[in-house]
Amino acid sequence: MMSSYSILLDETLQVLRQTMATMGPQLLLQQVGKIVYVGRGIARVQGLDTVRSEELLAFPGGVLGLAFDIDSRGIGVAMLGDYDALHAGDEVVRTDRVLDVAVGEGLLGRVVDPLGQARDGAGPLPYHERRPLERSAPAIMERLPVSEPLFTGIKVIDALVPIGRGQRELILGDRQTGKTAVAVDTIINQHDKGVLCVYCAIGQRASSVASVVAQLREKGAMDYTVVVVAEGDDPPGQQYIAPYAATTIAEYFMEQGRDVLVVYDDLTRHARAYRELSLLLRRPPGREAFPGDIFYIHSRLLERATRLKEQGGGGSLTALPIIETEAQNLAAYIPTNLISITDGQIYLSPGLFQKGQLPAVDITRSVSRVGGKAQLPAYRAVVGDLRLAYAQFTELEAFSRFGTRLDDATRQLLNRGRRVRAVLKQGQCASRTAVEQVMVLHAVNCGLFDEIAESDMARAENQVCEALALLPEISARIEGGEKLEEDDLRALQKIAADSLKEIL
Ligand SMILES: Nc1ncnc2c1ncn2[C@@H]1O[C@H](COP(=O)(O)OP(=O)(O)OP(=O)(O)O)[C@@H](O)[C@H]1O
Ligand SMILES: [Mg+2]
Repeated sequence: MMSSYSILLDETLQVLRQTMATMGPQLLLQQVGKIVYVGRGIARVQGLDTVRSEELLAFPGGVLGLAFDIDSRGIGVAMLGDYDALHAGDEVVRTDRVLDVAVGEGLLGRVVDPLGQARDGAGPLPYHERRPLERSAPAIMERLPVSEPLFTGIKVIDALVPIGRGQRELILGDRQTGKTAVAVDTIINQHDKGVLCVYCAIGQRASSVASVVAQLREKGAMDYTVVVVAEGDDPPGQQYIAPYAATTIAEYFMEQGRDVLVVYDDLTRHARAYRELSLLLRRPPGREAFPGDIFYIHSRLLERATRLKEQGGGGSLTALPIIETEAQNLAAYIPTNLISITDGQIYLSPGLFQKGQLPAVDITRSVSRVGGKAQLPAYRAVVGDLRLAYAQFTELEAFSRFGTRLDDATRQLLNRGRRVRAVLKQGQCASRTAVEQVMVLHAVNCGLFDEIAESDMARAENQVCEALALLPEISARIEGGEKLEEDDLRALQKIAADSLKEIL
């Protein structure tokens, strides 16, 4: 009797013989080039004649580079990893791959770099697939107009500069004016709105990114957020590709039919990283030393924001790019480019910030070109000509400083204006629902706050919002997108007035 061991051995030998018979040595053709120069985030490589534009190149030690500039003298490469250990003369091989990034549900709650590797020390990323960083934007016929609101929870924005899902709204302002705060508050406000978020930090200090991540984590917002990071001391190549990686990650969710919000913080640093790369690679500089295609790098990025038709997945990608202005100059090169690419802008003024009028949104210079169509109809009844009235008030206030003798009507106008200003103030992470916003704005329009001391305004606002619990039916109608009738407005005014009795 043959033992079971010898049967097993026989079978194994048979399989081995079969495999050996079919297997032959195969030639693997690999083009190998050499580094001529490496340093300051770039490398020059020679000997890879057939390399294609934007192809990934593999350097010793697993470091990757992007074939950026191809000319007769060689290839200019943007380094995407730590190149300290590389030297002239080292070998470089082609990978036949373009840049790609991991996408999928597994990325939610994680901090990743633009190449799709984890940066939070929480182990490898469980990703669904890898997708190329650069994709063409959806065609016009695949898009739907913006019609659903994206609530930021910030009164002055939701009421006066409303944003819709699929819109591109620029946030701009000088340094330290609360740009990041607006974007982060918006992400935190999506906790019950079914919107997934991608926060892309470009060229920031590690400590700033850490504080944003900590804030998101504390508020439970990381559950539905992916953070893509290329820090200021990462090579410029990595900073340059970061927003495209963030968009690819967001597009995956959009194609699953989800609504996604992407924040690019900020594109000024992105443009600077691209300028650095271009100058190092000796591309001809243009205005402000930026290369000629600087408009194109931002337009092809933001064109990918859209709302898709049902056939394409039915999701949306809302983009909130941030840029930093210098000395309030909105007419500089990068700000004007981005203002012309986006569907509106929210301008944060250092003057208002210094006066403590936070968020420091300058209403006269902010606009939303498509969001108005997506705004809940209830807002229309209470916002009316608030923008114009507020602009008139600020002018009147400046003028009235010259004289003390004012007639009653003017004094009343100033009084109301100050209350409106107080109502538009809002702390960080103190979001208000749409219904609360409508209620508060209605109350101020009706003059209910006129007699309340400015120091009591915050308390009064809270009282009015709490009183809303008495009118669940109207609240539901506002959220459901119905128009408010005269009777509803009167009912709102009545309970607001009642709630304020103890403060007056
Ligand atoms: N609504 C607000 N209420 C209170 N404080 C705020 C508000 N918005 C912003 N701040 C504070 O203002 C400071 C600057 O905010 P933030 O970092 O968002 O500005 P930034 O414009 O992004 O700055 P940077 O130019 O450095 O990126 C922070 O300390 C922040 O806490
Ligand atoms: Mg910031």
